[in-house]
Amino acid sequence: PKRIVSGVQPTGSIHLGNYLGAIKNWISLQNTYDTLFFIVDLHAITLPYDAKTLSKATRDTAAIYLACGVDPSKASVFVQSHVRAHVELMWLLSSATPVGWLNKMIQFKEKSRKTGDENVGVALLTYPVLMASDILLYQSDFVPVGEDQKQHLELTRELAERVNYLYGGRKWKKLGGRGGAIFKVPEPLIPPAGARVMSLVDGLSKMSKSAPSDQSRINLLDPKDNHHHARWVSSILSFDIAVLSTGMKVIAYKIKRCKTDSFPSLEFDNPERPECNNLLSIYQLVSGRTKEEVAQECQGLNWGTFKSVLTDALIDHLHPIQFSLIAPSPDIAYSSSEINLFYSRKQFFVRYDEIISDVAYLDRILAEGAAKASEIADSTLNNVYQAMGFLRR
Ligand code: TYM
Repeated sequence: PKRIVSGVQPTGSIHLGNYLGAIKNWISLQNTYDTLFFIVDLHAITLPYDAKTLSKATRDTAAIYLACGVDPSKASVFVQSHVRAHVELMWLLSSATPVGWLNKMIQFKEKSRKTGDENVGVALLTYPVLMASDILLYQSDFVPVGEDQKQHLELTRELAERVNYLYGGRKWKKLGGRGGAIFKVPEPLIPPAGARVMSLVDGLSKMSKSAPSDQSRINLLDPKDNHHHARWVSSILSFDIAVLSTGMKVIAYKIKRCKTDSFPSLEFDNPERPECNNLLSIYQLVSGRTKEEVAQECQGLNWGTFKSVLTDALIDHLHPIQFSLIAPSPDIAYSSSEINLFYSRKQFFVRYDEIISDVAYLDRILAEGAAKASEIADSTLNNVYQAMGFLRR
């Protein structure tokens, strides 16, 4: 089968953009393709970060993958830094990467502008070379990502072609290799909807982990009820004190406060209404309806009614990711509709809570994933060393 790789950075909290743009699509792909999903911890250090929380964030992210439905019996799930070949190939690739290509990267320009010159590390510039290495090591056919990674994928393709040209084919054969292309040239898989989920406070900027306001995003682990999961409270402190004291529920609260407009009805694709388009698109994806159905259903609704419909759809979709089916928490009084939801989604995998509390299980999945990935990665890496003329051990 064709091979698919993708990854998410373990920074901050995984949000609806990461989910709808990438992770949600991985789930259907793992049934038909050979899939590898990694947590890109090495990418997470390209901006100032907190060493105290990196390892926890890495495990949390792995647990979220599984809670969303990544099935470790089908996909290899592993931590990028556990497969050494990523960094090694990156060095080899960087010798073939013109600095000019990296300087053109939009994410580099944006992030370095925000960070301020004296804090911009070299790794922020060379970040796309590491990403290319993540992909090319596995001879990947497709890479499911959101829109914001398109340019990095383009660079990956150009780099693969360049290395194939510089070192592949007959030149490689003369050095004792098999000849032909060293790397497969991968293609991005960008979903028709959800590839660019926008901020809840500004329909013109994308939902992001690093935006200072938590109100700007729905996190996959945003509690549905305020009394659930006290340990998440600290991560949402930016407004949570107010939420807790008013007894509001986080997802409902965020949707209630999100930016809208004062046009009379609701519609997709009106450039003057980015917030409207964004919220309808989110609704489309979490409700599993088509765009046409949503357009029809929502055109006559006012914002108040639509917001409550959207909130319910979001909670229905996210709740099963957060909570265990098999062992619902004993100190939570679930409503009968919640219980029905649990059971109707039975096929929907193990959930975050259970997974994160079983560190041994999680670490075993990650170790197995890394072992499988290393086999493929090492073989590509050896080819590259050979083709580039290194003395072999
Ligand atoms: P990261 O961690 O920023 O984002 C993870 C995935 O989520 C997508 N995404 C979005 N999709 C829709 N709307 C949004 N608002 C939104 N925000 C983020 C991203 O496009 C991505 O698919 N460099 C990558 C991680 C990476 C990678 C790789 C991905 C490293 N190596 C190899 C694929 C293959 C990144 O920082 O993604």
